[in-house]
This record gives sequence, C-alpha cells and structure tokens, in this order.
Amino acid sequence: MAVLVCGGAGYIGSHMVDELLKKGEEPIVVDNLRTGHKKAVPAAVRFYQEDIRDSGAMDKIFTENDIEAVIHFAACSLVGESMEKPLLYLNNNVYGMQVLLETMVKHGVDKIVFSSSAATYGEPQSIPIRETDPTEPTNPYGESKLIMEKMMKWVCLKHGVRYVSLRYFNVAGASEDGHIGEDHKPESHLVPIILQVPLKKREAITIYGQDYPTEDGTCVRDYVHVADLADAHMKAINYLRAGGNSDIFNLGSGNGFSVKEMIDAARKATGEDIPVISGQRRSGDPARLVASSEKAEKVLKWKAKYTDMESIIKTAWKWHKNHPNGFCK
Ligand code: UFG
Repeated sequence: MAVLVCGGAGYIGSHMVDELLKKGEEPIVVDNLRTGHKKAVPAAVRFYQEDIRDSGAMDKIFTENDIEAVIHFAACSLVGESMEKPLLYLNNNVYGMQVLLETMVKHGVDKIVFSSSAATYGEPQSIPIRETDPTEPTNPYGESKLIMEKMMKWVCLKHGVRYVSLRYFNVAGASEDGHIGEDHKPESHLVPIILQVPLKKREAITIYGQDYPTEDGTCVRDYVHVADLADAHMKAINYLRAGGNSDIFNLGSGNGFSVKEMIDAARKATGEDIPVISGQRRSGDPARLVASSEKAEKVLKWKAKYTDMESIIKTAWKWHKNHPNGFCK
C-alpha cells in the first residue's frame, strides 16, 4: 500500500520521499509546484501535479491508488507573507486540509502525519516549550497550522482518522549525499542565507538585532536537521500503524543556538570568512525558541541525531555548493 505525500516536491517533503524509499515504502506525491520542485522527486515515484484544494483531482488520486496513510506538507509557510496575505493562508492551508480530510474520510484512509510548527505557540511563556504550553499564534501562518490541528482532532473523533501532528522548530540541512536540499525563492531562512555569502551571492549576512536578552544578544533557535525530521515522520507513521492514539509532538534538537553561533558554525563548515552586518530587529521575532522534545523521545522513540550545528551546516553546504541555483540549471 502507498503513502501519499502532499507537498512531496518541497524542501521537507522531498526528504520524506527519500526516507520512505530507503525504508522500502511506496510514496506517491501530490504537489502543485507553487514552491516545490519537480526535480526534487525521483522519476520512479508516481507524481501528480495537482492542488490539494481540488477535490476532483484528490478523489481521482485516492481512487487510482491504494493509499494507506497520508503525510501532509502541502501548505504556505512564510510568516511574513502570512501577515500580508492572511486569506491566502487560510484558503490554501485550512481549506486544503478540509478537502484532504474529506477525501480521506470518503476513501476510508485513517492515518495522517501532519507538518505543524512551533509558530502554533506564539511568544513562549517558558523555555523549553512543551506541547502542553499555551498556543497563542502571533501570525496567520501559525494560526492556520493550529486550526488544521483542530480540524484533525474533530475528524478523528467523528470519523476515526488518527493523526500525529509534528510541531517543528527551525529546520535546516540537506540530505547527506547532497542530491536534494533547500531551494526557496526568495530565500528567507537563516542557514541558506548565511551560505549565500560563501556562494558569493551576497557580500555579508545581516544579523537582525543584537540587543536581545540572550547570551550574545542575538536570537536563539532550536535547529533540527531535515533528515531527523523525516525519521520522525517515519516513526509517527509506524506509531499510527501500531494503533497509537492521535497526538501532538514537538520536534527540535533540544538545544538553542544564537544567530552568531550559527554564523560561526558556518565559518567552520565552509572554511570561509563570512562578514556580518548589524541590522534592525525583524518584527515578531521572539528572543528564544527552544523545544522540549521529551515527549517525542518517550512516545515515538525519536531523538535528533544531528545536534552539532557544524555538521548540520556541512550537509546544507554540500547541497548549495554543488547546486548554487538550487533545482534550476
Ligand atoms: N535571521 C537573521 N538574518 C537573516 C535571516 C534570519 O539574523 O538574514 C535571524 C532571525 O531574526 C531569527 C533567526 O535568524 O532570529 C532564524 O530565522 P529564520 O527566518 O531562519 O527562522 P524563524 O525562527 O523566523 O522561523 C522558524 C520557522 C517558521 C516558524 C517559526 C516559528 O522557519 O516556519 O520558526 O516562530 F513559523
């Protein structure tokens, strides 16, 4: 039976497809290619260029394939963009989830692993953040992910579709062999932006604020390697297969690193000097976001293997150095 990967041509989705293939599973990908890349999906994998909001197309995919479970990455995911276009985020993310769940119920597919986010918490009340902490999103992106979690909760109750929601912190890195990696246009995440400096695509990295109440004044985040995330999704599928109850888990490495520490790690990983510019704070950035991943460790038996930033950045560097234009030639 197949595992449908919604958004399987995106950054995290494509690493998931890779992991499924390594584990001898049969992934099928649906992606509208708004931000995903066809080249990120191996030719041998059945691929549908469709939008998950298209119920006719989804119905056809579920009719043509023997789908056992769904892994759902297909969503808009930029915090800043969500503030500008809240209705786009509600339509694409929330309505997309509605059509997906309707199709799953119609076809009797009862397992879903969902790509959620630390953005569901908003400004943290305490560190490390636990799953039981309050969820007060400060942007439409985080709100849409929280609504999507709640949709799954009610659909589980009524229709028995069990779910695992994985709230990721800061995802980074690329596959060890360097054949797939991060390619967003425009890029907005710290690690690929830092690496644009040694790639000679920018002269320096701007640090957004050096007056935060942290050890070195720059924001602290919990960076988790994309391969560790894929491993967590695999464990979540197997947890549901074993009859596990619907649940929500944080995924992070449990360690916080500052922007300055990340730049230092990138200097070591690339062997290049990376000049910095001091910039203004970016609005909405909390000073510190670090996950407690204890629950995932206990229940899913998952633990991040990559905990050293230099090794995470090395994998990203291998990808970017060999693909300076991402998936474009
Ligand atoms: N940063 C810089 N310079 C840059 C880019 C980023 O200093 O050029 C800083 C940011 O201010 C922040 C840190 O690097 O302190 C990380 O920024 P990212 O944009 O890489 O990631 P965020 O922490 O903003 O976002 C992450 C996820 C989102 C999620 C959010 C939850 O990528 O999906 O955490 O708050 F919504």
